[in-house]
Amino acid sequence: MQILRYEGIPLEHPDFWVYELDAALWRGVVEGLYGDDDMASLPVARWAEAQAPMYSRVLHLVAVDGDRRLGVCAIELPQRDNRHIAYLSVIVDPAYRRRGVGSALLDAAIQFCRGDERTTFQGWTWEPLQPAGPRRLRGTHGDGELDADRDSVAFATRHGFKLMQVDTMSRLVLPEQPELEAQARAAREATSPDYRIVQWMGFPPEWADDLAVLGRAMGADVPTGGADLEEESMDEERLRLLDAARTRVGIERLTTAALHVPSGRLVAKSSIVRFAAGDEVADQWDTIVLREHRGLGLGWFVKTHNHAALRSRWPEVRRLITGNASENQWMLAINRRLGYEPFAASGWFQRKG
Ligand SMILES: CC(C)(COP(=O)(O)OP(=O)(O)OC[C@H]1O[C@@H](n2cnc3c(N)ncnc32)[C@H](O)[C@@H]1OP(=O)(O)O)[C@@H](O)C(=O)NCCC(=O)NCCS
Repeated sequence: MQILRYEGIPLEHPDFWVYELDAALWRGVVEGLYGDDDMASLPVARWAEAQAPMYSRVLHLVAVDGDRRLGVCAIELPQRDNRHIAYLSVIVDPAYRRRGVGSALLDAAIQFCRGDERTTFQGWTWEPLQPAGPRRLRGTHGDGELDADRDSVAFATRHGFKLMQVDTMSRLVLPEQPELEAQARAAREATSPDYRIVQWMGFPPEWADDLAVLGRAMGADVPTGGADLEEESMDEERLRLLDAARTRVGIERLTTAALHVPSGRLVAKSSIVRFAAGDEVADQWDTIVLREHRGLGLGWFVKTHNHAALRSRWPEVRRLITGNASENQWMLAINRRLGYEPFAASGWFQRKG
């Protein structure tokens, strides 16, 4: 077995198979667990997230044996913040599991990252919503539990990772349009006239500063299960680079924000991302309300307006997916009220040293 390293793979380059392999293997995992591909991500979507390398460097290690491709480890190395952390994601083709391929990839990744002075390693796994086996692993934060004997969990614990937190993924089957509009109207009536809705597609340069503030608040305020994380560095350049890469591969993003009229600043926002034309499923991302404006219904205000607007942009979208820390009760309550139903879990693991 040989381990090859790839970095900075361009779109339409012969090496793009690395993104395709990684995405195909993960698609197999989510289809096996949840029975559909709503949670699968496209190779180009993974590629787009790697297009701001001065903020976050992305590499892939691939285990090969002759012309057989056995598995992949994606490595993400934050450059401006969290320079002690490496995010790792290991996946092995089911045909080659339990032969040490995952361990070889992980060892090689950790060795490489240590050379880059990384001391903390984090990764996520996909899990069924409810653990089924007799042995459970509980996160250090929140009350989520995973099945200790699943391949992902056994592999992570065997390699010295601790479960920090269990996240819950939920799905909403979009109600009919009149109902969405009624929800948005009711939210408008329940919200102070000091707040106004602003909506856009993509990245609006005129709101760059406010979006950077909201982006940083997102990093600082979302529950992180005690994981060793610093606030993520977020500025206009990073937002612009990622938006350009997403646009290039056909990813669209609809954002609804709340403008605080007295100060002229955006104080809450929520986005929906649609990865490819014709997709029935879209992702709910990045709902945040600045601390000083919480408790006033603004999360509900921006989400209901985002939902009411999305059909006119993407009439084919039927379902939305979102993820929350299981201890993020505030966001979970909003999502439950909107009709989201939990269907999947994700384990967040960390290893130090
Ligand atoms: C987790 C995964 C990467 C392991 O890859 P692998 O090549 O089979 O792993 P290894 O052969 O190196 O296994 C190393 C150890 O992990 C543990 N392990 C791995 N799979 C296991 C399983 N199905 N049940 C119990 N323990 C398991 C064992 O301790 C194993 O050592 P052993 O075989 O000597 O008992 C693979 O199962 C996979 O791709 N799963 C789906 C993706 C995923 O969840 N990735 C992890 C999150 S980033």
